Amino acid sequence: MNNQLVVITASIREELNRFLKERKFSKIALLADENTYKYCFPLLGLSLPEEQIIVIKSGEEQKNLRTCEYIWDKLTNLRLDRKSLLINLGGGVIGDMGGFCAATYKRGISFVQVPTTLLAQVDASVGGKLGIDFHLFKNHIGVFRIPDAVLIDTIFLKTLPNNELRSGFAEVIKHTLIADKSKWDEIRQKSLAQQEWQNLVEHSVLIKKKGYRRRSGRKRIKKNSELWPHNWPCHRKLLSEYTSQKAIAWRGYCDRNDLRGIYINEERLHFTTRTERNKKLYHCNFWKNRNF
Ligand SMILES: NC(=O)c1ccc[n+]([C@@H]2O[C@H](COP(=O)([O-])OP(=O)(O)OC[C@H]3O[C@@H](n4cnc5c(N)ncnc54)[C@H](O)[C@@H]3O)[C@@H](O)[C@H]2O)c1
Repeated sequence: MNNQLVVITASIREELNRFLKERKFSKIALLADENTYKYCFPLLGLSLPEEQIIVIKSGEEQKNLRTCEYIWDKLTNLRLDRKSLLINLGGGVIGDMGGFCAATYKRGISFVQVPTTLLAQVDASVGGKLGIDFHLFKNHIGVFRIPDAVLIDTIFLKTLPNNELRSGFAEVIKHTLIADKSKWDEIRQKSLAQQEWQNLVEHSVLIKKKGYRRRSGRKRIKKNSELWPHNWPCHRKLLSEYTSQKAIAWRGYCDRNDLRGIYINEERLHFTTRTERNKKLYHCNFWKNRNF
């Protein structure tokens, strides 16, 4: 993961342009969902013929084999060859699925991740995990493949709905709790609106690239949080009120036995209301008592 090209830029337009000039691709296609096409595509300043832009519906329910077939069909009709490029413009769904389609089309073509959600910027786009859901199993089919580049610009976050921003923020919190207490102390003093995203994204990506798994005392948290809850399809209903990232952050909190402080901070960060809190506590205790 350390060799992965991740560029955090203040001008996605220039960065993408530079990348495309440096690398000569025979053809370019772009994958987006309806929202990222509307809000993010104009920011790229990319002049692509319309037929080279593949737009799918948004949402986790699209991350399946049927949508992959649709994407592979489009790539085939466009006659993309092995020297072509797929640009994945979107959140984790687009990145995971677009990356998977690119990595398997003609045994693998180049692809670039342009993550547009906070979660995708600090987590999903970095690390090369690609895949789709299969029946009730999340990320059940997939491959590992490092993208040709990950180009990150926090300008995309301006149009991101607040609940999606909070979902990504939970991942940022998780990173600080696991690897950098002083950063945690810094962000807990600020509300969501006051956070400096560019700085936090850089910080999170760095932690992820370093691979915090190495730190033995913290290994358990990461291991547990990976197992819970998004790999438990039977508990989807239970968790439907929360994004998996929020729940993961909660899990991290629980493991640190620091619940009282976290309640206060959580409210400050506008994660939940007081009434939601008890329900979450139940989930946390329930899972805490399991031996993973
Ligand atoms: N590969 C990995 O390592 C990894 C890690 C974590 C999560 N994931 C995957 O990521 C997925 C979740 O990703 P996500 O939370 O980004 O969800 P998402 O991709 O579904 O995006 C969330 C919503 O935000 C919209 N959106 C995206 N960018 C926007 C923008 N800039 N402005 C306005 N709307 C925008 C999307 O259209 C969508 O409706 C899950 O499938 C999960 O499995 C993968």
